[in-house]
Amino acid sequence: MAKQNAVITGWGFYAPSKVLTNFDLEKIVDTTDQWITERTGIKERRIASDGENTSSMSTRAAKIALERARLRPSEVELIIVGTCSPDYLFPATACLVQDALGAEKAGAFDVEAACTSFVAALAIANGMILGGAVRNAVVIGAETLSRLLDWTDRGTCVVFGDGAGAVVLEASNASVGIESTVLHSDGSKGELLYVAAGATRIPATRETVEKGQHFIRMQGGEVFKLAVKSMADAADEALVDAGLTLEDIVLMVPHQANLRIIEGVAKRLRFPMEKVFVNLQRYGNTSAASIPIALAEAAEQGRLRRGDKVLLVAFGGGFTWGAAVLEWYGVPIPDRREKSIVERASRQLEDLVDRVRPV
Ligand code: UT7
Repeated sequence: MAKQNAVITGWGFYAPSKVLTNFDLEKIVDTTDQWITERTGIKERRIASDGENTSSMSTRAAKIALERARLRPSEVELIIVGTCSPDYLFPATACLVQDALGAEKAGAFDVEAACTSFVAALAIANGMILGGAVRNAVVIGAETLSRLLDWTDRGTCVVFGDGAGAVVLEASNASVGIESTVLHSDGSKGELLYVAAGATRIPATRETVEKGQHFIRMQGGEVFKLAVKSMADAADEALVDAGLTLEDIVLMVPHQANLRIIEGVAKRLRFPMEKVFVNLQRYGNTSAASIPIALAEAAEQGRLRRGDKVLLVAFGGGFTWGAAVLEWYGVPIPDRREKSIVERASRQLEDLVDRVRPV
C-alpha cells in the first residue's frame, strides 16, 4: 500500500456572538482602549454566554469542519480537544463532543498544553494516522477562558477571549500532508502563567475562592520575553525537519497572543508580516483555539490554496511551545464518495443475495 499522509480536509470555527470591546472594558477595570490597542493589538474579544461552554463551542466548530470534509459523525475515528478550560476536570471535553456529535465509533480525549494544545493535538492525531491506528481525526482547540478570569485584574482580563476551532485530519494518498511537528516544554517556568487552585494539589475551598486562586495569574512581561524566542526557534526547527525554508512558506498562522509578539517573531525570522495571518484584533487571545480559528478564517478568506506550505507556531503556559509545517490540501478526498457508493452497492447486492437464497 502507498504511504499515507495526513491532510486537512475540513475546517471550521465558532466564536460566541457576545462581543466585549476595549471600551466595554474601560467600564470594568482601570484601562483604556488606547493602552490595550497599543500593547496588544486587540480591539475586541468574544465571551461565551451562559449556556455556552468549551464542549458546545467545540461541537459547533467540529460540525462545520465535518460538513466541509463531507465526513459523517459515524465515520469519525478519533476526537481530540486541546484546551486548558475544559467543561470538567473529567470526563474529558472530547467525550462530551463525541456524544453531541453522535460519533459512536470515535475514541476521544483531551490534550492540555495551554496555548500550545492545538499544535500538540495535531501532532498526536498526525502520528496516529501515520501509524495506521486511525484513518481520521477531528482535532479541536477550544477555550472558555472568560470563566477563569479575574475581572478585576487588568493584566489578564483584557487579553483573553473565548471560542473554538476544529480541523478534520484524514489519511490520504496525497504525496504531502503534515510535514513536521515539533513540541517543547520547560516546566520550571510554570508559575509565570497558571491557575493555582481547584484541582488536586490545592483543592477548591472557601479560602482558595476568597483569595481568587481559581483565576488565571500571569506575569505578562516575562511570558512576552520567552514567547518571541521560543516561537521563532520552534518555527526554524519545524522547517528544518520538513526540509523547507521560510521562503517556501505561503502563510504563517501563529498563536494570536499579542500583535507585538507576532511582529517580534516575524522580525526575528525575517519573515514578511504580509504573509502572517492575524485576527487577534477581533478575538483576543483564545489560547488553544487561536490557531484553528485563524486557520479556518484564513481558508474562508481564500488565503490558502492546495499545495500552499503553511507554518503553525504556538507557545503558552507550562511553559510549552511548538510548531507544525503542513501542505494545505483543503477539499475532501475525491475517491471517498465513490468508495462509499461502491460499498453501499455491494451491501445492497449482499442483501439481495440473502433474500433470494433458498431457505
Ligand atoms: O497566550 C500565551 C500567554 N500569554 C501571553 O502571550 C501574554 C504575553 N504578555 C503580554 O501580552 C503583555 O505582557 C501584556 C499585554 C499582558 C502586558 O503588556 P506589557 O507591555 O508587558 O505591560 P506590563 O505588564 O509591563 O505593564 C506596564 C504598565 C504597568 O504600569 P506601571 O507599573 O508601568 O505603572 C501596568 O500596571 O502597564 C500597566 N498595565 C495596564 N495599564 C492599562 C497593565 N495592564 C494594563 C491595562 N491597562 N490593561
